[in-house]
Amino acid sequence: MKKIILASNNKNKVIEVKDILKDYEIVSLKEAGIDVDVEENGTTFEENALIKARAIAKLTGEITMADDSGLEIDYLNKAPGVYSARFMGHDTSYDIKNRALIEKLEGVEGQDRSCRFVCAIAVVFPDGREVVKRATMEGLLAKEISGENGFGYDPIVYLPEYKMTSASLSPEEKNKISHRGKALRLIKGELEKNA
Ligand code: IMP
Repeated sequence: MKKIILASNNKNKVIEVKDILKDYEIVSLKEAGIDVDVEENGTTFEENALIKARAIAKLTGEITMADDSGLEIDYLNKAPGVYSARFMGHDTSYDIKNRALIEKLEGVEGQDRSCRFVCAIAVVFPDGREVVKRATMEGLLAKEISGENGFGYDPIVYLPEYKMTSASLSPEEKNKISHRGKALRLIKGELEKNA
């Protein structure tokens, strides 16, 4: 079974990647005994995913996968974007962040509330080949917080097709349509081509 180092220690991400890439041995940073903090100083999701994957591939010499994701709100010129985790400070609760974003869009109606979750996943191979894929989950910024599942900005991304926020979807439903699930399936195709 081919090994892939996943440049993440986020439990949910590790589970999701293991579930979609069943034919590979997915090894998290912790499992690989790596404890480094790579600075994500890129200006796009793709750049940040590549920065992480390159840094860890250099350390391990193995096929390495990394992702970067976030929320883009069109009315706010795509903020918080690559700063999604850092928006208003790492330690600020998502309840506060989510309320602040709803407030910023006060008086904004209909399609002008368009937003999306974005995920870029990069894979770097030991011979230097690089693949990066991006996928999105499109929605509208909700006017109020709702839903108990998910994490982060899920309670404020309303999915018109499902008439609920992304935090109201079950984890299985979300994986089927999420930015991360879609990007992972695109990467799976690339891994098969590059095998
Ligand atoms: P990272 O990709 O681990 O750097 O995290 C990016 C940040 O984007 C997270 O901390 C969340 O704030 C946000 N984010 C990314 N994907 C999702 C999602 O599926 N639901 C809710 N928030 C998300």
